[in-house]
Order: sequence, then C-alpha cells, then structure tokens
Amino acid sequence: MAPNKIAILYGSETGNTEDFAKILSYKLQRLHYPHTLSTIGDFNPQDILGVRYLFVLCATTGQGELPRNCHEHSFLDKKNKTLWSVLKRKNIPEDFLKHINVAFFGLGDSSYPKFNYAIRKLHTRIVGQLGANEIFDRLEADEQSMAGSNKGTGAGVESVYFEYEKRVLEYLMTKFPKRKVNGQSMERNAIDDSIYLQPKSYLCLADKEDDSEEADVIVNEPLKFSNDAAIKYGKVIKNLGITAKDHFQDVREFIFTNNDTNIKDQYEAGDTASIFPCNSDTSVQQFLETQDHWLPMADKPLKFTNDVPNALKSGGVIEPLTLRNILKYHCDITCIPRTSFFMKIWMFATDVSRMERGEGQLEQQRDKLKEFATDQDMQELYDYCNRPRRSILEVIEDFLSLRLPWEYCLDYLPLIKPLYYSISSGPNDSNVQLTVAIVKYKTMLRKIRTGICTDYIGHLKEGDIIRYNIHNNHLIQDQYKGNPMVLVSPGVGIAPLLSIIKEEPQLSKNLQLFFGCRFKDKDYIYGETLERWDKEGRITLHPVFSRDRENSPDTKYVQDVLWKLGSFVTDLLVKEKALFVLCGASGKMPIQVRLTVIEMLKKWGGFETDEAAAAYLKEMEKEDRYLQETW
Ligand SMILES: Cc1cc2nc3c(=O)[nH]c(=O)nc-3n(C[C@H](O)[C@H](O)[C@H](O)COP(=O)(O)OP(=O)(O)OC[C@H]3O[C@@H](n4cnc5c(N)ncnc54)[C@H](O)[C@@H]3O)c2cc1C
Ligand SMILES: NC(=O)c1ccc[n+]([C@@H]2O[C@H](COP(=O)([O-])OP(=O)(O)OC[C@H]3O[C@@H](n4cnc5c(N)ncnc54)[C@H](OP(=O)(O)O)[C@@H]3O)[C@@H](O)[C@H]2O)c1
Ligand SMILES: Cc1cc2nc3c(=O)[nH]c(=O)nc-3n(C[C@H](O)[C@H](O)[C@H](O)COP(=O)(O)O)c2cc1C
Repeated sequence: MAPNKIAILYGSETGNTEDFAKILSYKLQRLHYPHTLSTIGDFNPQDILGVRYLFVLCATTGQGELPRNCHEHSFLDKKNKTLWSVLKRKNIPEDFLKHINVAFFGLGDSSYPKFNYAIRKLHTRIVGQLGANEIFDRLEADEQSMAGSNKGTGAGVESVYFEYEKRVLEYLMTKFPKRKVNGQSMERNAIDDSIYLQPKSYLCLADKEDDSEEADVIVNEPLKFSNDAAIKYGKVIKNLGITAKDHFQDVREFIFTNNDTNIKDQYEAGDTASIFPCNSDTSVQQFLETQDHWLPMADKPLKFTNDVPNALKSGGVIEPLTLRNILKYHCDITCIPRTSFFMKIWMFATDVSRMERGEGQLEQQRDKLKEFATDQDMQELYDYCNRPRRSILEVIEDFLSLRLPWEYCLDYLPLIKPLYYSISSGPNDSNVQLTVAIVKYKTMLRKIRTGICTDYIGHLKEGDIIRYNIHNNHLIQDQYKGNPMVLVSPGVGIAPLLSIIKEEPQLSKNLQLFFGCRFKDKDYIYGETLERWDKEGRITLHPVFSRDRENSPDTKYVQDVLWKLGSFVTDLLVKEKALFVLCGASGKMPIQVRLTVIEMLKKWGGFETDEAAAAYLKEMEKEDRYLQETW
C-alpha cells in the first residue's frame, strides 16, 4: 500500500506529547485527511519517501535527548533500522528530504539545562541538513513555567500546542480545501464530532460464532505476556522501608534478581530499570461495576479484529486476553485523564436510565464532558481533574450517563506505561537495587492518592515476579572517568549516586557527596552506609538536614553547603575538571542549585561577570560535565 502523504510523527517518554499527537491525528481524521500517526521509532524509514507533509511533535528527555520511542521500536525490534538512525547517517544526500513540508512542536522543561534539545536536533537535521521546507517556525512549549513558554510569550503548554494545531489545520485547509469522493470533488466538511471514529484494530469476542452469552469464561488460567521478546522477569528479594515509620515519606530499598540470566555487568552507573506496574483487582472490579454492561463479558476470551496495536506490544500483551486482564495489565484507569480521553468518550454519555433527573441531567453531563474535550484554555478540565487529581475511575463514577463500549477500550483508555527508576546497585552486583519513594498524598478533596507504579511496588512481597527492562544511559563519559566528582542529591536523588559510588575506584577517587534530607533520624536514607564510606575514605560526605536545626544549625539545603564550601568546590570544577552530577526532584531545586553554581563560579572561579560564569556552566553542560538526572 502506498504510504500516506501526511504523517504525524512523535517522540514521547511519559505521554504528554503523545496525547497532543493523538489530538492532532483525531482532528485530521475528522477532516478526512488520510494520514499516518506513529512514534518516530515505529515509523518505517522507507515510507518517508512518500511523505509530503510531516508534523513532528517531540519531548526532550535525559540529558537533552530524544525520547526512547524515537530511536527504538515499541516492541524493541533491534533488527530493523529506525527512521532516526537512517536520517542520522553521514552519507545521506543534503537534499534527501526536500520533497517534505514540515512543522515542529517541541515540549520541554526549562529547569533542564538542555531545554527542548530534542526538537531542535530533529529540526536541525530535517530542515537544516536534509533540505525539508519548514511550513512555519518551530513552536516550543515549556512545562516548567507558564511565563517562560514559547520564547517568553507567557503561553502555557496547551495553548502552544493549540497554536500549533491551528497553524497546521490552516495550512492543510488552504492547500487542500476540497476532497475527492468517488472521483467527485467536494467541500471538506468535518465529520460530526458526536460520531466516534473507530480504530483500525479493536477487541471482539474470540469466537464470533458463539452467542456472547454462552461463550466460555476463562477462570484461573495462568497468565503470560506475548509479543515482547526483550522483556525481563525479576524475582523480588527485598522490599524494605528505609525511612522512619512516623515519617510522611515512605522510601523503599527494593531489590530483585533476574529470574533466569545473570544481571551482573548488564548495566553501569547512571542506568535505569523500567518496571511494568498493574492495577489492583479492587480498582478493576470497581471499573467493571461502574460499566456494569461489561461484567458479563469480563472473563470471556477476546481477540483483535486486526493486528495487535503496536502501542500495546511494549512489555508484552496479556494472555488470556479478557477484559478483566486488559483492564488490570494494560489500561491506566487510575491516572488523571487528559483531553484526548474526553475527546473520545463524551459521545457515549447516553444512559438516561442512570440519571435521577432524566434527560436534562443527561444533557448536562454530555455538555460538560464535551467542554472538557474541546475547551482550549483547559481551565475547566484543570479545575475538575488536575487540581483535585481526579482519576479516570472517579470520572466515570461521577458521570453515570457514560456507557462505554468495551470493544474500543484500548483506544480511549490510556495505556499503562513502564516507570523508570535509577539503579542504586553497582554493576558488579548480581541483583538490581532500586530506591523508591512511594507516592501517597492527600488531595484538596481530602482523598488519599497513590501512584500506580509505587503502589504496585509497595505491595510486592519477596518471591513475587515483576516485568522489567534495563536501559543503558551512558551517563558518565569515559573521558571523565578518573576526574573528581561533585555528587549532589536531595532525597531519593541519592539512588543513581549510590551506583556511581559503588563503581569507584574505577570511576573516581575523589567523590564529594552533598546529600540533603529533612531529619537525621527520619529520612537520612542509607545514612549509616554513607557515613561508613566517608570514614573509609571512599567518599567525602556533606550531609544537610532541612528541618533539623540541631544537626544542621546554619545550612538548610544542598546548595547552602555547596556555597559554604564554595572555594573548594569551584576549584574542583574549574581547575580539576570535576564532573558535577545533580539528581533528585525536578522543579525549583535544580534551578536553585544551578544558580548557586553560577554564583560560585563568579566569586571563586575567576569569572568576573554573570555572563562569563553562565557561559562556563553552559560549556560544562555541552561537554556533558554538568549532568542533571531529575524527575
Ligand atoms: C530517569 C528517571 C529516574 C527515576 N528514578 C527514580 C528513583 O530512583 N526513585 C524514585 O522513587 N523515582 C524515580 N523516578 C520517578 C519514577 O519514575 C516515577 O515517576 C515515580 O515513582 C512515580 O510513579 P507512580 O506510578 O507511583 O506515580 P504516578 O501514578 O505516575 O503519579 C505521580 C504523580 O503524582 C503527583 N504527586 C506525587 N506526589 C504528590 C504530592 N505530594 N502532591 C500532589 N501531587 C503529587 C505528581 O504529579 C506526580 O507526577 C525516576 C524517573 C525518571 C524519569
Ligand atoms: N508534588 C510532588 O509531585 C511531590 C512532592 C513531594 C515529593 N515528591 C517526590 O517524591 C520523591 C521523594 O521525596 P523525598 O522526600 O525523597 O525528596 P524531596 O521531596 O525532593 O526532598 C528532599 C530534600 O530536598 C529538600 N528541598 C526542597 N526544596 C528544595 C530546593 N528548592 N532546593 C534544595 N533542596 C530542596 C527538602 O527540604 P524541605 O522539604 O524541608 O523543603 C528535603 O530536605 C521526590 O523525588 C519527589 O519527586 C513529589
Ligand atoms: C528524566 C527527565 C529528563 C528530562 N530532560 C529534559 C531536557 O533535557 N530538556 C527539556 O527541555 N526537558 C526535559 N525534560 C522535561 C520533559 O521534556 C517534559 O516533562 C515533557 O512534558 C515530557 O513529555 P512526554 O510526556 O511527551 O515525554 C525531562 C523530563 C524528565 C522526566
């Protein structure tokens, strides 16, 4: 089949950009524009020759890198080349993409040093070096600050996206105002938005001959996952709370071992493990009861009408394929819904029998759901979902008029994604150790919220089997091995740093560790080990306790200690070319640490102006000597 002339390609690590790409695809579908929607990694490189209009949406991850689904297939097919690996080839002609008209949308966070680098890399290669024609200037959204977004226009992420969408649609509508139906040219009118657009492949009963009421119900059949040969299975050997029982933050030392092969030497300091979580049986049952027409179907064998969707392959597809298993292992029913969820489900608000106030209430519910799907400032959606952190499960409990078709559940429900954890064990360890902060907090509605993966991890017991993968990040370049290292970590940011310390002395003989937590006797995680290492001379430890005056009388945060030892640390950075590694929560912390380092460079590093000090730090970032792993 000839490839589509229009392609929407995206790169997304945690789903934000994917959602925007899906919204754009949905709008194009309604306007009858045949197109391809794909991750950059899954797109067949040969098909680029047939593309004329290319829309690239991409987030930045890691140290200014492209998301994994740009350079990997979703099902880790290592044999075939990806589009990005082809485009990066040195011998490719300079006009290779001159047949393409392209527009870019980037999503990043300005608290990271390499802001929106991924979309800039794609832009440079596709337009600057391979000759594609840019339809309009690249748009960049900033997740961090409303004021900093899109080159300081003050626009939030959503408004930058909707500006992008507006320009894409205007361009296509100008270029192709009409469409052909049976050889006849006609106006391009959008499909009524109350009509659900069926996906290419969806669920149906496995044996169509059977009457659905009588088809077999699967009980107690062993579960397995197919379609992802690269997935690893681990056995839990330790899941220990390492913060005080009365401390609000539960942090776990979580250790697992590979079930069959030895994991030793398969990772290095700075690498991550991704864990595939699942929902609890209680949440799944709750969901099924809200959509009670699903209950008779819940345990019957299902199949796909066409191929298994690519997006489902990462981590493997659950077998036996039943609605209950799909809800448990594939659908993220406890996440906060995004716009695309409402866009796909509002038209299913049809069940008047569950409306105490009849048709009027049904109309109200339908209108509200539609508003969440279409309002571009997203304020209503933000107030209803994001602020109180309402989950999909709670939304469908609130909107009882929703009668969702189970056949399409993998289209409108977001898929469970693996979550990443920095590896805390050393490469010579035969197990994998993680340091996991369990997400549990109260919302403004006074409800307890948990995170899908940490709740799953929190309940795992010794001997339980998990699905996981290892990701090699090559955080520390070979050329810096042996240089002094300034390691900075508030809280669970210590996780990857432990791995670095365990890899010494190969990595460095001068490790300065600045570790921050709240109280010496509550969340000083691995405190005893760190102090022992300090005594043994493996590291020099600089602890700081933000809420513990007795043990931290004159300093609060890691940056205060860095400043206190400013002359010494600056000498390490400037004269001894030390590596600076900062890990922990994203947001204000990395920005403040960065500003402190600039001030230090100015005061003790021989840089007279702010600009000169900032330029030196930029240079360090460029050389991958200032590393930031924050999440
Ligand atoms: C490269 C990398 C390395 C990482 N390493 C580690 C690590 O070593 N250890 C570790 O613990 N985590 C690490 N993380 C984070 C981890 O991947 C997960 O994001 C985290 O565990 C939460 O996952 P979850 O599924 O439990 O929560 P989710 O279901 O994804 O929910 C998390 C969301 O809940 C919200 N939230 C959390 N706490 C609060 C609060 N108090 N108030 C309001 N909202 C809140 C936030 O919006 C947050 O985004 C890392 C992430 C990356 C990208
Ligand atoms: N809203 C959220 O999403 C949220 C909230 C909390 C935690 N978390 C997550 O939970 C994880 C575990 O929490 P944790 O307790 O280990 O780590 P944490 O919340 O990052 O706190 C660790 C230490 O960092 C300090 N800190 C706070 N702001 C700082 C800043 N601007 N500069 C320097 N230090 C600062 C804290 O002090 P003080 O607290 O005393 O200021 C504390 O001593 C974190 O990785 C974080 O991502 C998320
Ligand atoms: C581990 C990690 C690294 C990141 N690195 C960068 C970065 O280098 N530059 C940047 O602009 N944004 C960075 N970000 C921010 C993401 O681009 C931003 O959160 C975005 O919304 C993610 O979109 P996605 O959900 O489509 O992956 C990073 C986020 C994480 C969690």
